[in-house]
Amino acid sequence: MSILVTGGAGYIGSHTCVEMLNAGYEIVIVDNFYNSCPESLNRIKELTGKDFKFYECDIRDREGLDKIFAENNIEAVIHFAGLKAVGESCAKPLEYYENNVGGTITLCEAMRDAGCKKIVFSSSATVYGENNVSPLKETMQIGGTTNPYGTTKYMIELILRDLWASDNEWSIALLRYFNPIGAHKSGRIGENPNGIPNNLMPYITQVAVGKLACLSVFGDDYDTPDGTGVRDYIHVVDLALGHVKAVEKVLADKGVDAYNLGTGIGYSVLDIVHAFEKACGKPLNYKIVDRRPGDLATCYSDPSKALEVLGWKAERGLDEMCEDSWRWQKNNPEGY
Ligand code: NAD
Ligand code: UD1
Repeated sequence: MSILVTGGAGYIGSHTCVEMLNAGYEIVIVDNFYNSCPESLNRIKELTGKDFKFYECDIRDREGLDKIFAENNIEAVIHFAGLKAVGESCAKPLEYYENNVGGTITLCEAMRDAGCKKIVFSSSATVYGENNVSPLKETMQIGGTTNPYGTTKYMIELILRDLWASDNEWSIALLRYFNPIGAHKSGRIGENPNGIPNNLMPYITQVAVGKLACLSVFGDDYDTPDGTGVRDYIHVVDLALGHVKAVEKVLADKGVDAYNLGTGIGYSVLDIVHAFEKACGKPLNYKIVDRRPGDLATCYSDPSKALEVLGWKAERGLDEMCEDSWRWQKNNPEGY
């Protein structure tokens, strides 16, 4: 029996594959390397001393998926594969709906026809939209997303709930990630963005390593303690361990349920800058600029449901997140 990991060569996928292998699962990875590279797979093997099957395949390729299900005994799927850049999704909405929504439908059709009805899906805190007040709880109404990327996550959650309503044999976990940062302790796998990063931590690490000149802090006039945006940053290894727990849950119980994966703690942009300066031992060049359109002042989770139902809780603090992000960037200045 194996767990199929779509998008397993990517940032969160590679860390999850390491933790799944360490927990004793057999895995099969499928990825099209749209936003990743084969070297991350070598490093998963290096870190775990374990081997796995890999298919270079697009999840929209139904025949390719059918072959994977025919050749392996897949018990459940962890579904990371998708496009994730908010700005790009506004410029290329059709590509985002086609890849994220279309790809998930093709995957679920192939799963259904193969008799595999257990899936853990990468959703996002973005599904809470603009109108809910933090701490965000799974009982809050979702929707009101502000960009096509976020809307794909919202739509997929609805599609998966409809799928379960039509066939109660399915087991579905919708994992709503807050802001993943950090890297594996070894510094061998980490986030490897193409081009100029959009997200805060990869931007900071590239300033620290000298690839970028200066961090722009987007606004210091929010209604937050220091005026900069507040987010719930979570160590990617904690997030990966949350997937191991979610897999246990879908293997054990039928149903569909959403879980926040966050720490429950909100840190400001300047908190992150200062924690990172401590981790890398030097001052970071930054300047305050205008707000980024579409940004919220504050977004953090109530993570208590994941603790109660999955028995999972984030353990790693901000200093460790910054130290591990820095080690990865310093050891791999050009990425993989
Ligand atoms: P990533 O881009 O590093 O990983 C995604 C992987 O999926 C890549 O390896 C890419 O090549 C692959 N992929 C994309 N489209 C594919 C397709 N059609 N067929 C096969 N493979 C395909 O991103 P990540 O940060 O690891 O995110 C993983 C998932 O978590 C994504 O669905 C993302 O939307 C979601 N998510 C990420 C964050 C975050 O901050 N990183 C937050 C919330 C949710
Ligand atoms: C963004 C996306 C969200 C997505 C998540 C992970 C938006 C509006 N939201 O979340 O949908 O799930 O990334 O991919 O894009 N910041 C700076 N300077 C920078 C970069 C960021 O000051 O160069 C600030 C932002 O204003 C924010 C915080 O840092 O307050 C975190 O930003 P980011 O890492 O982009 O994540 P989110 O905006 O929370």
